[in-house]
Amino acid sequence: MLQSLGARARRAFFLVPFAYFATTAISSAGEADVVNIYSYRQPDLIQPMLDAFTAETGIRTQIIFAQKGLEERIRAEGANSPADVILTSDISRLAAARDIGVTQPVDDAGISANIPPQYRDGEGHWFGLTLRSRVVFASRQRVAQDAITYEELADPKWKGRICTRSGQHVYNIGLIASMIAHHGEAWTETWLHGVKANLAVKPTGNDRAQAKAVYAGQCDIAIGNTYYIALMRTNDKEPDQKAWADSIKVLFPNAAGRGSHVNISGMALAARAPHRDAAVKLMAYLTGDAAQKLYAETNHEYPVKAGVPVSEMVASFGRLNADPLPLSEIAKNRRTASELVDRVGYNDGPNS
Ligand SMILES: [Fe+2]
Repeated sequence: MLQSLGARARRAFFLVPFAYFATTAISSAGEADVVNIYSYRQPDLIQPMLDAFTAETGIRTQIIFAQKGLEERIRAEGANSPADVILTSDISRLAAARDIGVTQPVDDAGISANIPPQYRDGEGHWFGLTLRSRVVFASRQRVAQDAITYEELADPKWKGRICTRSGQHVYNIGLIASMIAHHGEAWTETWLHGVKANLAVKPTGNDRAQAKAVYAGQCDIAIGNTYYIALMRTNDKEPDQKAWADSIKVLFPNAAGRGSHVNISGMALAARAPHRDAAVKLMAYLTGDAAQKLYAETNHEYPVKAGVPVSEMVASFGRLNADPLPLSEIAKNRRTASELVDRVGYNDGPNS
């Protein structure tokens, strides 16, 4: 039997912008055959894995999707929260969920065996499911070099040639936090000033919009996540995006050195988790071969589990040499990264 949300939970829901129910009601307790997922990931990106899980186990899943505020929502719901599993598309929100106390540890030998230690919390509060590298989208026409470093993005030779989305977006915060981990705060502030001075325009739009800007000649290099190239190249709904992607080549920054920055999409078990056993089953399933293969083939992400191959298209980008920095180090520096973005006025653009 489905139960509708309590009044308190409903109130919390309406405070969350951009949220919607993918299902008409969320089961709050009592059913062993359902898992309630609070997701920052678009439902269509995860539905194939969830369907495969249901087919194998008979356990249903229900998704609440939002672009922000899910951990605050779970906190507001308190003891009434129907949330079992939290899914995110980056490390910052996993760390934030742990920080405000809406996660609980999971100690599962199968999950730990499938996920390398640098991609999960040491105490089991969060786990990476897939990797995405934050790479340089370089114009095939206007950029001759085939190698680059993040450090080089501050070199005046790129003046007026770089496009990025907002410095405060979680994907850029992850990258800047990794720079702090490698070089320290003061060095990273100077570097970020340099990158800002090289921007062609004020940061705007998403990662795909940066590829479009390179295609349109607005800038020569942009920063974006690997899977967007593949999703644009195969986009039959918006075929214009194929031309954007075809105009750029993927440069893996620091490939010959410490490796390219990677972020994770990941999961956490909610603190109350009314369907704990089913939730842990789902979490284990998502780290297994079948789901990891779907992540690779359908979403063009890098599987977190060793031995699961990447998609053919992702393989065509070249080999990813991932920076081995533990994601917990990136999580630690995320607030400082956000402060730096404000302090240098990154989002005000190059001429401010
Ligand atoms: Fe994304």
